[in-house]
Amino acid sequence: MADGTNSRQIVVIEGDDASPEAVRPVVDLISALAPGIDWQRPLVGEAAIAETGKALPEETVATIDASHSTLFGSTSGKSGAALFYLRWGKGTYANVRPTRYMPGYRSPLADPTGIDFLIVRENLEDLYLGIEGEVSDLHGLNLVSRTSRQPLDEIEGRYALKVITEEGSRRVVAKSFELARERKAAGGEGKVTIATKHNMLAHTDGLFREVGLKVAESYPDITVESFIIDDFAHRLCRRPQDFDVVVMPNLYGDILSDAAAGLVGGLGMAASGCYGDDYAYFESAHGTAPDIVGQNIINPTATLLSACLMLRHVDLASVADQIERGLGAVYAAGETLTPDQGGTASSTEFCEAVLRASEDA
Ligand code: IPM
Ligand code: MG
Repeated sequence: MADGTNSRQIVVIEGDDASPEAVRPVVDLISALAPGIDWQRPLVGEAAIAETGKALPEETVATIDASHSTLFGSTSGKSGAALFYLRWGKGTYANVRPTRYMPGYRSPLADPTGIDFLIVRENLEDLYLGIEGEVSDLHGLNLVSRTSRQPLDEIEGRYALKVITEEGSRRVVAKSFELARERKAAGGEGKVTIATKHNMLAHTDGLFREVGLKVAESYPDITVESFIIDDFAHRLCRRPQDFDVVVMPNLYGDILSDAAAGLVGGLGMAASGCYGDDYAYFESAHGTAPDIVGQNIINPTATLLSACLMLRHVDLASVADQIERGLGAVYAAGETLTPDQGGTASSTEFCEAVLRASEDA
């Protein structure tokens, strides 16, 4: 990825509602530290529809394809076509969501010290194929409920299809083990936890787990453990410090990564990066905060931490280190925090404080 010129083409999609208020000051902050980045702002969502009649025009796709990466805000659906392209179009199958406590975060726990784990969410399969319909459409297939023994032909209602594939599971678990190895080299525990509902969903989640345990055999230096997802959720609340890298199917990862953010201080801290074999993009895991739109108080930390993952991905790790040190200093000082963290600073004031602290760091 590094081309020696230090120039990078990064697409920025600001997202909907209050999301741009987090993304803009983060882009300004990064631009101050890494002026070589060429930010591209292709048309998406409502603006794209107004101008071209399409939610995702070909030029936007071409701009994304030509870029080193994308920084995406959050979507309420308006920029959803871009998000779908970045996930399914670009094959970004591993959604890495770090939860790391930093002193100064407003955690609800008595002692959040030492919380530092990744949830790796399978990003493309499971219920997210989005195949739903009327149960009556499945009548005649002779399906029978495994639990009630009732023939499906007697049931009226709606269904959603959960699909887990062997290759889809293998690649996301392999990514998790690679990450555990990287973390171990940097002093981490070197452990992967597989969380599935394999007792109830023996075919689908059973496959994910089976493939996961098989992949583990290629990583004798990394410890592997497997929990049923509900047991995992309980352990996550009680002893989040026990985890290093946790891998799970899509829907559980979506839900539990938000829960994990709650452990350290809330969705304002929820960073995320989606990695495929050829492309990666970065987005905060939180929503668009429509309740605070226009107030300049959304917490940019999640966007900033996601951007740091992106900077590492495009070989600008030293800039990411600098920003993370600055962020740590601002939280430790506790003087320029956004309202969700008990402060009175605006989103822009917060980012300006992080920039000053980064420059000193
Ligand atoms: C996330 C979000 C998305 C998801 C929505 C916006 C489709 O909740 O990134 O976690 O469900 O993946
Ligand atoms: Mg989510």
